[in-house]
Amino acid sequence: MTDAHTHDRLLIIDFGSQVTQLIARRLRELNVYCEIHPYQSVTAQFVREMAPRAVIFSGGPDSVTRDGSPRAPQEIFEMGLPILGICYGQQVMMTQLGGKVVTGEGTAEFGRAYVEPGAPLPLLEGWFAEGREQVWMSHGDHVAELAPGFQVYGTSPGAPFAITGDPARNFYAVQFHPEVHHTPNGAKLYENFVRLAGFSGDWTMGAYREEAIRKIRHQVGDKRVICGLSGGVDSSVAAVLIHEAIGDQLTCVFVDHGLLRQGEAEEVVTMFRDNYNMSLIHADEQELFLGALDGQSDPETKRKIIGKLFIDVFQKHANEIDGAEFLAQGTLYPDVIESVSFSGGPSVTIKSHHNVGGLPEKMGLKLVEPLRELFKDEVRALGRELGLPQSFIGRHPFPGPGLAIRCPGEITREKLDILRKADAVYIDQIRKHGLYDEIWQAFVAILPVRTVGVMGDGRTYDYACALRAVTSVDGMTADYYPFSHEFLGETATRIINEVRGINRVTYDITSKPPGTIEWE
Ligand code: XMP
Repeated sequence: MTDAHTHDRLLIIDFGSQVTQLIARRLRELNVYCEIHPYQSVTAQFVREMAPRAVIFSGGPDSVTRDGSPRAPQEIFEMGLPILGICYGQQVMMTQLGGKVVTGEGTAEFGRAYVEPGAPLPLLEGWFAEGREQVWMSHGDHVAELAPGFQVYGTSPGAPFAITGDPARNFYAVQFHPEVHHTPNGAKLYENFVRLAGFSGDWTMGAYREEAIRKIRHQVGDKRVICGLSGGVDSSVAAVLIHEAIGDQLTCVFVDHGLLRQGEAEEVVTMFRDNYNMSLIHADEQELFLGALDGQSDPETKRKIIGKLFIDVFQKHANEIDGAEFLAQGTLYPDVIESVSFSGGPSVTIKSHHNVGGLPEKMGLKLVEPLRELFKDEVRALGRELGLPQSFIGRHPFPGPGLAIRCPGEITREKLDILRKADAVYIDQIRKHGLYDEIWQAFVAILPVRTVGVMGDGRTYDYACALRAVTSVDGMTADYYPFSHEFLGETATRIINEVRGINRVTYDITSKPPGTIEWE
């Protein structure tokens, strides 16, 4: 459990729904501090220690009619806490409080549904203004008999008890998922619930910053911390926050593997060393990485070489820092939630991602992870709070293996140079047209093929390149960005005119899936 004990806290008991994280998102948007914990770890003792102001039961894939299916600790209903049950959470509440849930024909409902209003209820303030409300359902079972004290406040065709409540005890339970986009008015239910539970909305970035600094000082004492800096948003924000907490006790290591974009190394070094006065090791290891990659064309081999060397280099420099006991990482909340997995099984490796996993154990370092409680957009808000320039905070993601995976096939210095120039022109175009912030990620890939062209009166035989620009929410799925023909034409002309070595420009219109965002 974290120590945000000066705030009102809300406990989300996770019964394994795919969308539990979205409940947390909705609450954070209301400036409410919440934590998600899997139902297995939530005992009555745990709840007493955490002392939340309210509790939400998430949805989940199981059926409460099955023996041994997940439950909440029975004492939780006697603690005087407001409780909101969602989907499976509703069924858990009904079952544990003496109602009845059934499974069978006519009890399931998936996708969009409409809830008709029942009696008025403070939880439903702002609902049903225009009659029925659209909601998103995803349930196999449904409540057939209410627990004593509960009443019905909304019904849908597949859920006679779509909205139920016992306002005297501040217990509410809904069959649908108010946290998802397809329940357009869902955020209002959470807003009403936290208001009824008496939350003051005190979870702000300013408060978070103060608390995080106190925590870092307490954890680190007078020891030294090392931090791998990539120039990406997460590691930059983590570094600035830690630096604010412990100043010179922090040393950052920036590994230049020769696969960075134009001007990137200088930008990062200037930003952190000159502007923030941070102790920063600029490990220029271009020769090492490019030498090891020479002649390699298989994507996975390239990734593995880079990943291994990165760890070697980082370790070498970290070893030189006397008394380093901590490693700082920009781990975010979605990475740490212990989700309840019912299906189990590791997912297939599509690409081996590059990180420094395993390093802390190998080097005997303890972790400092000041962003563990934040979502990506909250990290950006914290970055703004810390005064990082928008140009850093709003940056598109850049992969650890860098330009290596944007240069399909063999990597040569010549190709990397051409790629850097073309990429710079492309990004300049995107910025000039005011499109940068609409796009999740944009880059050029240089293709392992030369094509014939004609420039002036002469024949050319140069590289072709592909422009990529995608929209996405989390990088898991993506769609290509619909540039205008004018933009594409102007950009192709500029690249061919300004970058020697490219005579053909294509635009990649593959979505993910079936494609991936990067080319390798
Ligand atoms: P793909 O190509 O898998 O990329 O669709 C999804 C997102 O992940 C980034 N990416 C990486 N990020 N290390 C990283 O830190 C990696 O090895 C890596 N490979 C891909 C990619 O840029 C996109 O944002």
